[in-house]
Amino acid sequence: MDLEEPASHGDESYEPTSPWWLSGTPLEAEHHRLMRRRSVPIPWAQTTAAALTAAERARLAGTWMRRSEAEYLAVSTFAVLAIDLVAAMAPADVLSLCLRAGIDEVRHAEMCLRMAQIYSGEQKLPAPAMSSLPDDPQRPKLHQALANTMLVSCVSETYATTVLSETRDLTVDPVAQAVLTSIYSDEVMHARLGWSYLRHSIEHGGQGVIDAAAEMLPRALRGVANVVERERPVGEVTSAVRDHGLMTPAEERVIFSSCVREVLVPGFAALGIPVGSALTDYGDTWAHAA
Ligand SMILES: [Fe+2]
Ligand SMILES: [Fe+2]
Repeated sequence: MDLEEPASHGDESYEPTSPWWLSGTPLEAEHHRLMRRRSVPIPWAQTTAAALTAAERARLAGTWMRRSEAEYLAVSTFAVLAIDLVAAMAPADVLSLCLRAGIDEVRHAEMCLRMAQIYSGEQKLPAPAMSSLPDDPQRPKLHQALANTMLVSCVSETYATTVLSETRDLTVDPVAQAVLTSIYSDEVMHARLGWSYLRHSIEHGGQGVIDAAAEMLPRALRGVANVVERERPVGEVTSAVRDHGLMTPAEERVIFSSCVREVLVPGFAALGIPVGSALTDYGDTWAHAA
């Protein structure tokens, strides 16, 4: 996959994504400059939402609103992680990518909000939310930064890339397709940030880092599993709803389980981090429990 910075697009291909969420001040111009920097054009006018039933639109509006809230929460997650990384004297490239990830999450939240508006007709804002990452002032700064990087980036963002990739594959609506593709390409980099920092930390911090990572692993997996297990907005996932980028909770369980087995456990094991009971905790029994 090409992870290079996309070529910048002219002004004619950019429009404010969710203008009802902006300040109404001159800051808006700078905001648009930041948002445009990594954006691929979204063909907003090509939505096929009009062909859906009211129930299908409500189901999709509910899910895209949830997605907007999750992306909004991720803004604060990367802000808190950036503080941990600064405290741990993380390398400059790790710092800049972490801070940029926060900006990406603002853009994701805006796009999901606009998707919700497309289905509901309502210009809402995400519910207020602040991420709270584990914070233990007694432990070495490197261990704190590393543990939270594992939670946020290695586990959460890696799972996001697998579920986004599979969701995108079943999506037919061109707008939902473009939004999921755009978010996916950023989340790949958000995951790579964590795996790279993990490797760097092990090289420099030795066994203490490995122990801190091993201790965090079950907690990080549980944190993401909680999100997968969460109840969904009311409404049937019809085939038309699937065309607009939505899977069933049962399918997402299977994806998380295979992500643990095929990506996360091999990745941590390759770095020498003990994975404990991860494979059995999220094996076939968990995958098919819904
Ligand atoms: Fe995101
Ligand atoms: Fe992300």
